[in-house]
Amino acid sequence: MTNEKQQEIQEAVQVRRNFAIISHPDAGKTTLTEKLLLYGGAIHQAGAVKARRDQRKVTSDWMEMEKQRGISITSTVLQFKYQGFQINLLDTPGHQDFSEDTYRTLAAADNAVMLIDAAKGLETQTKKLFEVCRLRKLPIFTFINKMDRPGRDPLELLDEIEQELGLKPYVVNWPIGTGDSFKGVYNRSQKVINLFKRSAHGSQQAEVKNLEIESEELKSSIEPEIYSEFRDSLEILEELGNDFDLEKIHSGGMTPVFFGSAMTNFGVQPFLEAFLKYALKPDGRNSSIGIVDPTYPEFSGFIFKLQANMDPKHRDRVAFIRVCTGKFQKDMIVNHARTGKTIRLSRPQKLFAQDRSSVEEAFGGDVIGLNNPGMFAIGDTIYSGQKLEYEGIPCFSPEFFSYLKNLNPSKFKQFQKGIHELKEEGAIQIMHSTDGFKRDPILAAVGRLQFEVVQFRILSEYGVDTTLESIPFEVARWVKDGWKALEKIDRVFNAITVKDSWDRPVLLFKNKWALQQVITDHPELKLDSVAPVG
Ligand code: G4P
Repeated sequence: MTNEKQQEIQEAVQVRRNFAIISHPDAGKTTLTEKLLLYGGAIHQAGAVKARRDQRKVTSDWMEMEKQRGISITSTVLQFKYQGFQINLLDTPGHQDFSEDTYRTLAAADNAVMLIDAAKGLETQTKKLFEVCRLRKLPIFTFINKMDRPGRDPLELLDEIEQELGLKPYVVNWPIGTGDSFKGVYNRSQKVINLFKRSAHGSQQAEVKNLEIESEELKSSIEPEIYSEFRDSLEILEELGNDFDLEKIHSGGMTPVFFGSAMTNFGVQPFLEAFLKYALKPDGRNSSIGIVDPTYPEFSGFIFKLQANMDPKHRDRVAFIRVCTGKFQKDMIVNHARTGKTIRLSRPQKLFAQDRSSVEEAFGGDVIGLNNPGMFAIGDTIYSGQKLEYEGIPCFSPEFFSYLKNLNPSKFKQFQKGIHELKEEGAIQIMHSTDGFKRDPILAAVGRLQFEVVQFRILSEYGVDTTLESIPFEVARWVKDGWKALEKIDRVFNAITVKDSWDRPVLLFKNKWALQQVITDHPELKLDSVAPVG
């Protein structure tokens, strides 16, 4: 390795920042994404991303969504530059296409932005995604959105984050009024007020006006009660709030909190700038040869998502690789850790908006898409130089369960092959009943859409017609110490026991209350919401 190449890698890693947005549908993820791209100069007028979202929202049917491809493939990663930084925004599928992929994307992220609707506070999908971030100890940056509309008390929102997520909030800017009386935010480090100017939909970058906290201009533009309420709450915050602790932010124990309104562009730019200042740059990752730093001179990365394109005209598949170390170059030859084969990485793709442009090089923190000749599985490592393998991506707790019945018994073999291959690819988890009479495989999914995908692909790729028989359970937990832990218990009420693809016991519950009941009845039983692959 030449010194120049080593320096090139070091410089590239230094300016890379990678993150995913975690939120509940409708909190404003599309809007915020669009505004970040606007500030990053990647688009010139807000509207482009939104148009795609609208196209996506009107269809709940998966085939329709597939026909309008472009969606998941092109939005898997959005790359843009800002003030010398190379930013990778990983898209986390939501809405109708929420699936295990959404969780897996977080395995490829270095930071997360938690987007909250000020009127709603923490919502279910955000909490689920947060749990995955917590497993990885990802730094979380909180953006409380829609401040231009009536919202909940900001102190109450902070309390909710602290109590429900166990995350210590550090308030970066503090709002003055909400809804119709929202006047702006007080930036605590710069000690100035950023005044809010109401505009319908900010399609251009917002102009910012700053005022001193004691300025007459400010006081005269705000009703006295709102001003004094703001001063009171700020005083409480200064007295009782947490002190800034970057180490705690980086280890996922503290979250910087920003208030703003993505729709009107208010607070987006200061957020982006603070995020770039404090976000974690690509960091070392655990592997079979210990922790490897992104500046390690050899190339390596892992597959976090596989996308099968259902459009019959483009029957290609794309494997998404998170680059971890070294420098990726088009046409380079790498090793595939699981099979020991060598592969030439040709036709790499950089993925942005409607274009698939070819990528010539990439560094730690970047994501590339490769046409998948069928050899990749989720979690696979590819590398050059000394052999190394990254920790796999775990299985995440499914919430939908259905027996999959083969309607053509003569196609037993194709059915088995299809199930096996789709499971290997990570399209779905497969479980089995422990009752010997029930031989049909159980499809276990994080999102319903995964069922549709499996049924369609079994039919189109393996020629087998199937039907689903739903199982009315919605929570799954792996039993930590396996079958022997279950044997010690006479009978678990409120749950059924099934086994996963590796013959490990999994308990299925009708709902969270049933799970809670079992935890209370059997405190000795250790239950996990994720499990390693194999
Ligand atoms: P999502 O991707 O998280 O699902 O949310 P999205 O950005 O699509 O936003 C959901 C709705 O919330 C949109 O309204 C959007 O305009 C609105 N919104 C987003 N940010 C803000 C904000 O800061 N303030 C206010 N007041 N509204 C916001 P919609 O009616 O569904 O669409 P549209 O007609 O506005 O396009």
